[in-house]
This record gives sequence, C-alpha cells and structure tokens, in this order.
Amino acid sequence: MSGFSADWLLLREPVDHRSRDAGLVAALRDALGSRDSLSVVDLGAGAGSNLRALAPSLPGPQRWRLVDHDPALIAAARSRLASWADAAAPEGESLRLERDGRAILVSFARADLATGIEAALGDGPDLVTAAALFDLGAVAWIDAVAAAVAARGALFYAALTYDGTEAWTPPHPADAAMLAAFHAHQRGDKGFGPAAGPDATAALRQAFEARGYEVRTAQSPWILGASDAALIAALAEGAAAAVRETGLVAEREVAAWLAARRSGASCAVGHLDLLALPRR
Ligand SMILES: C[S@@+](CC[C@H](N)C(=O)[O-])C[C@H]1O[C@@H](n2cnc3c(N)ncnc32)[C@H](O)[C@@H]1O
Repeated sequence: MSGFSADWLLLREPVDHRSRDAGLVAALRDALGSRDSLSVVDLGAGAGSNLRALAPSLPGPQRWRLVDHDPALIAAARSRLASWADAAAPEGESLRLERDGRAILVSFARADLATGIEAALGDGPDLVTAAALFDLGAVAWIDAVAAAVAARGALFYAALTYDGTEAWTPPHPADAAMLAAFHAHQRGDKGFGPAAGPDATAALRQAFEARGYEVRTAQSPWILGASDAALIAALAEGAAAAVRETGLVAEREVAAWLAARRSGASCAVGHLDLLALPRR
C-alpha cells in the first residue's frame, strides 16, 4: 500500500538512528524542559523507528500517537515496540511500555495524512515529529502541516528528510543520469500531490518561519560502508526500480549501474533534520 515494507524500514533503522544530528535532539530536549508528561504525535510512523530513536532522549512519562495509513506497518510497529521495551502490556487499543525506567503509552491511528492532518494532530500535542516523511509531501501539504502544528503551538521536529545529494564510490559513468532520473521520480505524486523531494526541508523552513517559529536545520547523512552491504544493495535496487519507472535512462545503462552498485564499496546519501520552535 505505502510502498515501504517493514523489512526495508528495519534494514535502515540502525543507520537512521546513528545519522540523526545529536545537537538538534539535545536542543529539542532543552526546549521541552522538565515536565510531568509529554504528548507526541509521530506522522508517517511506519514500524515505530522514530519513537525508538527519540523517546529515550525526551523527558517522561510520555504519550505517543503513531499515525500511518498502512495497517501492516502499524502492526509491525506494535510488535517491534513491544520487543524493544523492557516491559510491554496492552491497555485497551494502546500499548503501555516501560524502557529505561521511562513510562511510554503508545496509541496507533490509521489515517491518510494527505487529507487527515487536523484529525491526526488532535487537540494539541506538545510535539509533532516525523522521520523520513516530508520529501514525499507536496509544498502545499507541508504548509498545511505547519499551519496545523502552529495553530496548536506545538514544537516540531522532522528527521532524515532526503536532500537530493548522493555520492557513490567508486564513481560510475551512469551516476549523474541515474541521480537526475531518481530526482524526477522523487518529485512525482506520492499521495500528496507533486512531491517536494529534495526541496522539502526548505519548504518546511519557509512554512514554519512564516508562522513565527525559530527554525534550525542540520545535516544527517547516511554514510554507508563495508558493514552496510545489505542496505547499499537494497538502496541500489530501490533507486534502479524508481529510475526504470521514469523511463529516462536506457535499460542497458540502468542494469550496468545496478550491477556495479549492488556491491558498491561505499555511499553517502544526504538528509537534513529540522527543529522548529515557537518563539516565546
Ligand atoms: C520512509 S517511511 C518512514 C517510516 C518511519 N517514520 C521511519 O522512520 O522508519 C514513510 C512512512 O510514511 C507513511 N505514509 C506515506 N504516505 C502516507 C499517507 N498519505 N498517510 C499516512 N502515512 C503515510 C508510509 O506508510 C511510511 O510508513
């Protein structure tokens, strides 16, 4: 349904976690201060990676709502969070977790964020977050998300938005054509209208600054090497499949590029993290 398999999200999770900018997470933690409870909405939560990355750095006890349109990923989130926690027990439709002495109550909502952002945010979380989501969204949708977050006075943190840069080693003659076609695919409609793709972080910055937020961004590139062979191979296959859909590169070139890249030595994929704080 979403085009994102639970296996792919599991494969990228350790790299996503190590790539996040620690300075922005520390700034988020400082901005939240100490509080009796924290409520968080995670947009496009997938199998729950963003919670596993972020919850240990935030003050507790916490209530998280994980929103996604894919029921298979929601089911994967429920089971992976239960295994990740030190203790887990169902509480109605929710899941009560304990991890490192922190209580985390997690609820799950199946919703299409293209049309359901207001309902997804509910009546006022302290923090709205997402990981690896906003490059899928159209600029107008990104603006609507910022409007809905700002109307609630919530803090906002988006991690790992693709920024369009990729550097593979060793170089291959088809690299430039493959990347240009991949960007064309990135800008296609992913359910939100024509996607912002690599411009998503700039669109987020503009949307939040227009609403009086203070915005900081930081790089969070994937730096992949010999120990990431499975992710490198999956990344190459995903890129080749996307490029084939565009028809912009001859099949012979795509196949040669993929054969070289499947066992590529190393690769860097650019991402940006963004923190937007309401001005006091
Ligand atoms: C690249 S995955 C990232 C998942 C997760 N945040 C992570 O970091 O592993 C993008 C997620 O957005 C979800 N998604 C895409 N379009 C959506 C929509 N229109 N409504 C709700 N969720 C959507 C997908 O199902 C998927 O879980």
